[in-house]
Amino acid sequence: MEFKGVIVLFLVQIFLIPNGHSENILFFHPVSTYSHRISVWPLVQRLVAKGHQITFISPYPNKTPLANVTDLVPEPMSSFVHQYIHDWFMSDCALGLAYKFKAKTMYYAASCLTPLYYELYGIVPDTASIPEFEYHYRSPMSFYERFVTTIQPLVWTYKMSTSHDAITEIIREKLNVPEMPNIRKLAENTSLILLAEYVIDGYPQPLTPNIISVGGMHCQAKINPLPKNLAEFIKGSPEGFVYISLGSGVNVNNLPEKFQDVFFNSIKQMPHIQFIWKWTGNKRTDLPKNLHIGEWFPQQDILGHPKLLAFMTQGGRPSIQESICHGAPVIGLPVFADQDLNTQRLENLGGAIVLQFDSLTETTFQNAITEMTSSKKYKTRMTQLSKLYHDRPVKPIDLALYWTEYVLRNENTDHLRSMSRNLTWYQRRLLDVWGTIIVAVIASITVIAYTIQRVRCFFKGNGKFKKE
Ligand SMILES: *[C@@H]1O[C@H](CO)[C@@H](O)[C@H](O)[C@H]1NC(C)=O
Ligand SMILES: *[C@@H]1O[C@H](CO)[C@@H](O)[C@H](O)[C@H]1NC(C)=O
Ligand SMILES: *[C@@H]1O[C@H](CO)[C@@H](O)[C@H](O)[C@H]1NC(C)=O
Repeated sequence: MEFKGVIVLFLVQIFLIPNGHSENILFFHPVSTYSHRISVWPLVQRLVAKGHQITFISPYPNKTPLANVTDLVPEPMSSFVHQYIHDWFMSDCALGLAYKFKAKTMYYAASCLTPLYYELYGIVPDTASIPEFEYHYRSPMSFYERFVTTIQPLVWTYKMSTSHDAITEIIREKLNVPEMPNIRKLAENTSLILLAEYVIDGYPQPLTPNIISVGGMHCQAKINPLPKNLAEFIKGSPEGFVYISLGSGVNVNNLPEKFQDVFFNSIKQMPHIQFIWKWTGNKRTDLPKNLHIGEWFPQQDILGHPKLLAFMTQGGRPSIQESICHGAPVIGLPVFADQDLNTQRLENLGGAIVLQFDSLTETTFQNAITEMTSSKKYKTRMTQLSKLYHDRPVKPIDLALYWTEYVLRNENTDHLRSMSRNLTWYQRRLLDVWGTIIVAVIASITVIAYTIQRVRCFFKGNGKFKKE
């Protein structure tokens, strides 16, 4: 099942090892895409500027090395990520390391909260209005959809409990800590969660005080001029240009040929629009004149360009946040994981059109682009949303820095945790209370109905109860 690998994509573990004023902090980012590194990197930069020493473990080397940041790319991890990204595997393994080093832990959730967090941290989720991320439901949901969404946190908890047991055994043995509690206990003890989500890129939801919403940390404040060749290419476009990027996880050559043809034929048929396509994989030689491809582009500078007509994206959370930051209207082509949720949220707010790969044709592709370029409403809406996104009392990066140092400064964060975490799943949802009310109501109705019937019989029988 494709969502199995997803959970690890969302988790970045931060260990904090106090050592006086300058702390040693480990970012453990075992299974992730490069975009998740981009999303958390501003926090690393700020921590270094405050004098902390950072070690960053991830499958990708840093493109621009930074003083006092030790980048570790374990070779087996790098090939592991490329080979086994779909396997069930949690970055929770790292909690064992934290236990051994007596370090505090924080989570960085690079996208939405997965349903597992709800039970771990005692959150009563708003499953009435917020769709479960892997089922591609849209809000508002039908009864059946709310039903599935509501039981999912319990299904996740059950599934994870079995893997937690197995992981615990492995870690006890490998790290030589036989007395280590179950990894689930350590996960529950996480000091704080930095959630890379803010009400516009995600749905508004109730959060406990130990979950800090820091979505959009990596938004660039300033738009830089584009590189010369790109600027020249865009100059030649009468109407403007569309930017296509299916993210770092999608190799274009792996797209089935019929989809590649949809893209190429549609681009050829729209010569009045220029297309820029971030392309990973072997290049094709028969490129249309109005198409410029490249392995890497300064994405935020492109999204902030005044001639941008639309951003066609698979809808990873960091990309969606960048489009909101710079007011770029989105054509979503979700591939997997949380991408449906992210693009549908933006569609729900009026800033995006969402297409599905399984129904993608030249007609749907071209209609979406025509709709977006002929109607000003998407651009107008994204400009509004961008303004709202930036209008916060404290910048997300300042919040993230503050709360990371808060965890370092203070002995623990127990006072921020939900008291509900000590209750059972049904007490937390008040099912025992509602159950009692429902049973009481049914019992009362039964008693009343029975009494009425007996009284009726009494009068029918001329004041005498009939014998059965
Ligand atoms: C790196 O850490 C050392 C030792 O704490 C410190 O003296 C130096 O100023 C730091 N460099 C930067 C660029 O922060
Ligand atoms: C939970 O975290 C606190 C620090 O925040 C630590 O003192 C305590 O030992 C941890 N408990 C467990 C069971 O790991
Ligand atoms: C909740 O449970 C934890 C450990 O399971 C315990 O230390 C704490 O005192 C409990 N808190 C409350 C409010 O019952």
